[in-house]
Amino acid sequence: MAEAEIGVIGLGVMGANLALNIADNGYHVAVYNRTTSRTEAFAASAGALSERITACATLEDFVAAIRPPRPVIIMVKAGEAVDEQIAALTPLMQANDIIIDAGNANFRDTMRRFEALEGSGLTFIGMGVSGGEEGARHGPSIMVGGAETAWKRVEPVLTAISAKYRGEPCAAWLGENGAGHFVKTIHNGIEYADMQMIAEVYGVMRDHLMMDAPTIAAVFSAWSTGPLDSYLIDITAEVLKVHDAATGRPIVDIIVDAAGQKGTGRWSAIESQMMGVPATAIEAAVAARSLSAMRAERARAEKAFGLPAQQGRRNGQEVIADLESALLAGKIAAYAQGFAVMAAASREFGWNLPMQTIARIWRAGCIIRSRFLGEIATAFGTDPDVPNLTLAPAFSKMILDTDAGLRRIVSEAALNGLPVPALSSALAYFDTYRRARGTANLIQAQRDFFGAHGFARLDADGEHHGPWGGQG
Ligand code: 6PG
Repeated sequence: MAEAEIGVIGLGVMGANLALNIADNGYHVAVYNRTTSRTEAFAASAGALSERITACATLEDFVAAIRPPRPVIIMVKAGEAVDEQIAALTPLMQANDIIIDAGNANFRDTMRRFEALEGSGLTFIGMGVSGGEEGARHGPSIMVGGAETAWKRVEPVLTAISAKYRGEPCAAWLGENGAGHFVKTIHNGIEYADMQMIAEVYGVMRDHLMMDAPTIAAVFSAWSTGPLDSYLIDITAEVLKVHDAATGRPIVDIIVDAAGQKGTGRWSAIESQMMGVPATAIEAAVAARSLSAMRAERARAEKAFGLPAQQGRRNGQEVIADLESALLAGKIAAYAQGFAVMAAASREFGWNLPMQTIARIWRAGCIIRSRFLGEIATAFGTDPDVPNLTLAPAFSKMILDTDAGLRRIVSEAALNGLPVPALSSALAYFDTYRRARGTANLIQAQRDFFGAHGFARLDADGEHHGPWGGQG
């Protein structure tokens, strides 16, 4: 008998935990995984929740186990596996059934899937889910893209399983087709920038102030009671406190300094470039991960060049106070960039993205959750059309309060050869953005000189060319 109210395909870490979360919230859920042994292991480990779980060995049984109209969540590796699942599923489903892709899809794939399913009678939703394993199990942040009518049909279950911020569900419909996956991508781009800037600040403490991991942990713990209060700062403090059982050393000291990436950060940078919206802190974070992966080359370069001589060090407490300011200022730049990219995409794809709602559903459940996001939600509540977060009065004040600290950290890091690419990109972004008279007058002149591209004048309308002495 079809008694399940919803189905989950893919029982990897995220899918399995999402299914348990759904069952925990009183819904009967059917589950299916291509490798049957995984489905069996999942069912065997579900404990008391197994009475609300129907584990299915075939896709046919899975579809038959769900009451129509069926909502089916696909949580498999982004890319081809999603297309394969959709292809296998569609012939078995009926009109009005809903396929929900909950993986970290590239929103362009999501747009393509919407088009492909158009006219099939099936409904498609592209859903961003953030919060890792813990979030999936106990409440993630959920970013939905698709028809609003489709959202209305799944809203009860999605809000039930989502994280709650002071009782408010962190799940929302954000716009048509690819909107949910686009917003999730930018969430991850910001996540990259947040993580990179935290790592840069850690690097200054480790390699300049010569602090050990537990001492650095105490600094992050102290910051987590101030404006930097966030999940990523909390877990950083936790991580830095942990010692390796085998060596007795702080575990960060024996972890290889090369980080992987699965694509979402890079997509954020690519899409921002495509739209001509600067997202330099995010780009710097993506590039830093790529450089981190070039370990052998970096070792060779250190052998070839050595490290720059130290240029002296200020009092440690002063540097630490500046690091807190630098991190906050850098964070403002990264979020201002991320939200500006979303605003441009909203215009380009006709999504009408609700910026305040996005900030609100990021306040709990997701990886970048923080006190700061509450302030962003307030700023967009006051002025939904502010062109750049830095121009919202609360953030303008925050920048004016922290900008000097960021400037001193970037200078001191540069003098001492300490790489702070995301922080220095953030500073360059502010310094460029705040200066009314820039230097592109020279770029205009150069372009006109070599390519007769023309230029605009300050004192006259129209397109002009320079008197380049016949060489232009
Ligand atoms: C989240 C995370 C999650 C995942 C990323 C990590 O919001 O829950 O962002 O989606 O951890 O895929 O991405 P990288 O492997 O690229 O760091």
